[in-house]
Formats: sequence, C-alpha cells, structure tokens
Amino acid sequence: MNIKKILDELTLEEKASLCSGADFWHTKAVERLDIPQIMVSDGPHGLRKNIDLAENPNQAIKAVCFPTASALACSFDRTALKAVGKALGEECQAEDVSVILGPGCNIKRSPICGRNFEYFSEDPYLAAELAGAHIKGVQSKGVGTSLKHFAANNQETRRLTVDEKIDERTLREIYLAAFEGAVKNAKPWTIMCSYNRINGFHSSQNKWLLTDVLRDEWGYEGLVMSDWGAVDDRVEGVKAGLDLEMPASFGKNDKLIVEAVNNGELSMEELDKCVQRVLELVDKAEESKTEAKWDMEAQHELARNISAQCSVLLKNEDNILPLDKNEKIAFIGLFAQKPRYQGGGSSHINSFKVTSALEAVKDICEVEYEQGYITDEDRTDEELLEKAVQCAKRNDKVVIFAGLPDAFESEGYDRTHMRMPDCQLRLIEEIKKVNDNIVVVLHNGSPVEMPFINDIKGLLEVYLGGQAVGAAACDILFGKVNPSGKLAETFPLKLSDNPSYLNFPGVGDDVQYREGIFVGYRYYDKKDMQVLFPFGYGLSYTSFEYSNLTLSSDEIRDTKTLTVSCDITNTGDREGMEIVQLYVRDKESSVPRPVKELKGFEKVSLKPGETRRVVFNLDKRAFAYYETAISDWFVEYGEFEILIGASSRDIRLSKPVYVNTDAKLPVQFDLNSTVGDMMSCDEGKAVFGEYIDKFCEGMLQSNGDGLGEASREMAVSMFRDTPLRGMICYDERPEFDRTKLAEMIDTVNNMLES
Ligand code: BGC
Repeated sequence: MNIKKILDELTLEEKASLCSGADFWHTKAVERLDIPQIMVSDGPHGLRKNIDLAENPNQAIKAVCFPTASALACSFDRTALKAVGKALGEECQAEDVSVILGPGCNIKRSPICGRNFEYFSEDPYLAAELAGAHIKGVQSKGVGTSLKHFAANNQETRRLTVDEKIDERTLREIYLAAFEGAVKNAKPWTIMCSYNRINGFHSSQNKWLLTDVLRDEWGYEGLVMSDWGAVDDRVEGVKAGLDLEMPASFGKNDKLIVEAVNNGELSMEELDKCVQRVLELVDKAEESKTEAKWDMEAQHELARNISAQCSVLLKNEDNILPLDKNEKIAFIGLFAQKPRYQGGGSSHINSFKVTSALEAVKDICEVEYEQGYITDEDRTDEELLEKAVQCAKRNDKVVIFAGLPDAFESEGYDRTHMRMPDCQLRLIEEIKKVNDNIVVVLHNGSPVEMPFINDIKGLLEVYLGGQAVGAAACDILFGKVNPSGKLAETFPLKLSDNPSYLNFPGVGDDVQYREGIFVGYRYYDKKDMQVLFPFGYGLSYTSFEYSNLTLSSDEIRDTKTLTVSCDITNTGDREGMEIVQLYVRDKESSVPRPVKELKGFEKVSLKPGETRRVVFNLDKRAFAYYETAISDWFVEYGEFEILIGASSRDIRLSKPVYVNTDAKLPVQFDLNSTVGDMMSCDEGKAVFGEYIDKFCEGMLQSNGDGLGEASREMAVSMFRDTPLRGMICYDERPEFDRTKLAEMIDTVNNMLES
C-alpha cells in the first residue's frame, strides 16, 4: 500500500470515515482506493469471533478458552505466555482476524475489581513482562494485539465516567509502568485506551497520555483505538492521538471531524496522523495474512499444560497431596463436575469443549462424587449437604471443589466483599466435622477470604483455569505434575486490610488513589501486616535450596548494569520448577519507598539433586523512583539491598550494593525554605554559615540558658525547621532584613545552578 499516495487521494470525508469502525468488529474499507477492511475480535485468553453480526450479535465461534490472566500470571513464565499468544495468533490467522483485543495489563488495585481475572498482577514489573510475552507470541504469527485498557481502568463501577485522581509518581511507578514495559519490549500493533478519566481527562482524549507519554516518551509507533464506546469528544480525541474510534458511531462522529477541519478547529495534519496510522495497521495486517490451520484438540492439551503450570499449591499440611489413587477419595462440589473456568463479559469464550475434574479423574482412579451445593443462588440445599457429609464420612480424603460462582464476579461490576458463598463455607464446615483430610480446590478470578483455612489440610488455587482446568487440577492432585505456580497478587486476610479499601470504588465519579504507590505487597510490607498468602507464594512437592549469591560489583553507577546470580538446587526427590524472585530494597531514601520491589524473576526446571545458576541483569530502573521535580526516573545514591526470594516474604539470600550517580536534583531555595534545607548543601553553608551560627545562638538564648539535653534537642530541631524568613527575629543587626535574606538566597540559587 502506498500510504503517502493514498493520503493525497483521500477526500476529507473518507479520511474522517477511516477514523471509526464500520460496525462492531471491522474497520472501514474505501473501495475506490482499494483499502480493505480488517477485523478485530476479543481477547484476551481465547478468540471470541462473532459468527453472524446481523442476526445474532453475541454468538461467537467455537474456540479454545485458555486460563485467564490472573491464572496465567501465576506461572511467572514468559515462555508459557508466549505459547498461549502463539496459539491465539494461529486461531486468528485461520479465522481471518487481524487484531485480538488483549492482553489487559491493568494493575489489581483492589481485590474486588470485577475484572481482575482479566488482569495479571498487583505488580507492574510482572504485569509488563507477562503482557510483553503474550504480545510477542500473538504477533509472531502475523496478528496484532491491543494492549488494554490504557490506563488506570482499575474498577468496573462507573467505569465509563469515573475520574481517577492519581498523583504522577504513582501513575508512573505503578499504573503506567505495566504498560510502559510491555510497549517498549513487545511493540503491540495497537493499544486500547480506557473508559475512565485520569485527573480530569478522558483517556480517549488525553493528549498527555496518548501522545506525550505513549509516543514521545516511550516511542510507540502503532495505532491507538478506543475501548468500545469510550469516546467523549471525538475531535479532541483526534488531537490527542486517538486514531480509531470503536465501534462504529454510525458516521456521527466522522461528521464532527469533517466540520472541525472545515472550520479550522482541527488541522488536516492532525487528522492525517490518525488516518496514516489506520492505513499502516490495515497494510500490516494485509501483508501478514497467511494460510493457517488450527488444531483445537492440540490447543486443548496446551490449555491443560498451561493451567497446571498456573495452579498454585497454597497449603499442604502432612503432605496430604499428592493423592494416592489407591485411597478412597471423594470429589465434592459442583465445580468438580461443572468447573468455573472463565469470567463473564467481553472475554467470554464459546469453548469447544470443557474438561471437568470428574471426567479427567476417570483416567486415574474411581472417586465418589457429590454435588454439595448449588450456584444459582447462595442457599444451602440441605439434601445435597447431607449427602455430601455422608460421602465424606465414607472416604479417606475429601477434595472439595469450591470458589466463586459466575454471578459473584464479572466485567461490568465490582464485588462488594471478598467472601465465598455462605453455602460453600457451610459445606466445608460440616465436612470438617466428619473428615479431617480435606483438600480445597479453588476456582475464582481473584482472592477470597478463607475462614476455613485452619480446617483444611490442602489448598490448590486454580483461579479461572480455562477449559481444561479439570484435567490440570487432577494432574496436580495426583502428582502427575509438580505444582510450580506462585501468587501474582497478595491474598489479604480480609478486604478491609487492602490499601484501597477506604477509597474504592470512590464517591460517585470521584476516585482518589490515596494509597499512592503502596499497592499490594508494597503496602502490606510497609505496614508489616500479616496476610493470608503473600505475593510470590506457592508450594511444590519438592524443595529448593538457594545459595551462592554473587553481584558483579558491590558498588556501581546508575548508568551501568548490575549482574546478579545465584544457585538453585532441587533438594527433594521429584523433578520440579522453582520461580526465583529478585527484589530491590532502597535502604535509606529521602522519599517514601516500598520495603522491596520485584525487579526480576526466572523459572527454572530442576531434576532431583540438580543445581542451576540463575542470572539477572539490573539497570538503572531497578533502583530508581519517579521524581516529579525532574519529570524523570531518579536514583538516589546510597546503599541498596539485593534480595533473592522464594516469595516476597521468604527472602533466602541478600547482599548490599552501593549505587552511585552523577545526577542531582535541582535545588532552589526561597524564603520559606528551612534553615536545615540550607545547611544541607555546601553552597548554602558557604553563604549562610555565619548567619546560621548567630541564629542558633539567638535561638538557644531565647529558650533559656543552662537547658537540659531534651530542651537543647528541641531548640536544635526548632532551628532546623525554621523558615529562612524567621531568622531576622534572632539577629538584631539592622542590615540583616528580608531583602538581605532574599539576596543571599539568590546567591545560593545562582551558585547551585552554575
Ligand atoms: C471491553 C473491552 C473489549 C471491548 C470489545 C469493552 O466493553 O472493555 O475489553 O475488548 O468491549 O468487546
């Protein structure tokens, strides 16, 4: 496609028309100039391609439902994510879909966001790495992705209108960082802007977000499309860098674009930028089309393997797992027969088949099954309960398949609590009275409170594990697969422990992110709080030893890379995989910082007795925080600590490293700067030294002579925190006045600048 030539030939009306969809899932064609239309479809963990747009708009083709993002993230495995991406790319090629709408890399601010199952983590580094791997996988097949929802779409309540009030440091370090990493590392063909406003501006017309940050700072060159119906002011959107409005607005917004160009409100250059990016996408999609077939059965097997890798063993008292097929085992709970394996809303896949645990276990051994509870309402069915209890009595071990029914979490609304259905809690309670050997298998999109945790011996978190989740659960329960997943989010003891609790989901459209950067483990660690399960936690049927931590240097400049390596040994008697996590701690900082932050992770597979060396490379960003005074990342020199752990609360090895920097923050003083501020720099001391001494003397005198140590302390701290303007009260010299002070401050400022 000769895009330059086409741009010259398109009429204004045609250009405007290209900036919105033809319908729900297609871009517009311009036949006169041989511009074809392309199709986009949801995403993210399966293909939801609509069959017949006119007659049955919600009917999707049969496809494969992979584990949802909250599950996938627990794999901490870039290779697994890439494999899922590749499979999705193949499906899209075979089905003539050019862009699959996902992955979603919004941060889990609160455990009750209804759409958390579609997001990876509470940690931006992990989310960025996994989203990047997913994107690379899909795009390696010549199909585009749409990284969504850019940005800060962290709740479903009033998602189209809420105004998220987030300070810039928090945005940069937490909410944007997840996108930044994925954009820079994997270059998604498209990005989908979010519905919400950020600090007053709709994402769909936020120039700072869509152009200044995304394109100018991060170097993004692809297309930005709106989330479905996210456009507020289309003309402002074009100016801000929103290239494509989705879905169609039936020509209404196109007309506004034409009018705006005609009346000079919008320039042709601004419009052309958007049109060019639409054409580039269409061209790339057309060029990348290949003949493809997809093998659903093979993908079902992949979904099974991946789901097993994502499952997290959270408790295994007395080594109740793996189960022995010769024992008498009961499977109890409707989810054993009808697993909840995906969430509701735009990501809902029409699975071509679903494997339940009850079906999968037939290949292993015989188990006794009882339904135990219902899911259409939260009511105990006494008859089902009684049968389940009797069944539990007759068996050696009971596996209860429990979790959240569909109605408890979905796109479109948030949960109001973190509880599981009462009828399921009662079932566990009653079974505990007759059998001590209980394993719970949890199906849920995000964390739940677990009042039963001390009543059970085994706990396997399978999240929403995709259509093969039942088979994957059996693979782990019976030890065919050694569990290796770890939590990509903290499970708090209760909802009110969560840092966003007091400000979620906000008041009307006003949502204040008052917890700032302290999201997830960053908060629980800082407050030294007990949690149910920490970030990064997960057990294995084998054990691992960590040793020989080495750093390439114990002192580096922030412009250099630090290489960190350590040995991991499988000390048990089973082959297994371990997720090794690297956290960085800034030991002393002048700004509030988390106790530690994840800056690296690797997953290693080890045979019994085998040792492997794991290597990480850390650059400046691993040590930096976002400093708004310079609108950039900044490393404060000083001592840091490199922590290597099996979870965020199980640090096995650590070593200090001194980081140095040539960068300095701009310092400027004024009359309200304090005496302490001025004494903290050499320039200040040089100009103010004599006066400050006099001031201190004056202050000590006025506070009485012969003071005890405590009062002296008080006086010292009082003069340290006194604004410079206050010094005139302690120095009677007539020439030492406000004007003189201002001149001296100017002198210091000039010295600092030069
Ligand atoms: C969702 C998007 C989705 C789109 C198309 C929107 O409501 O927020 O994630 O891709 O619909 O179905």
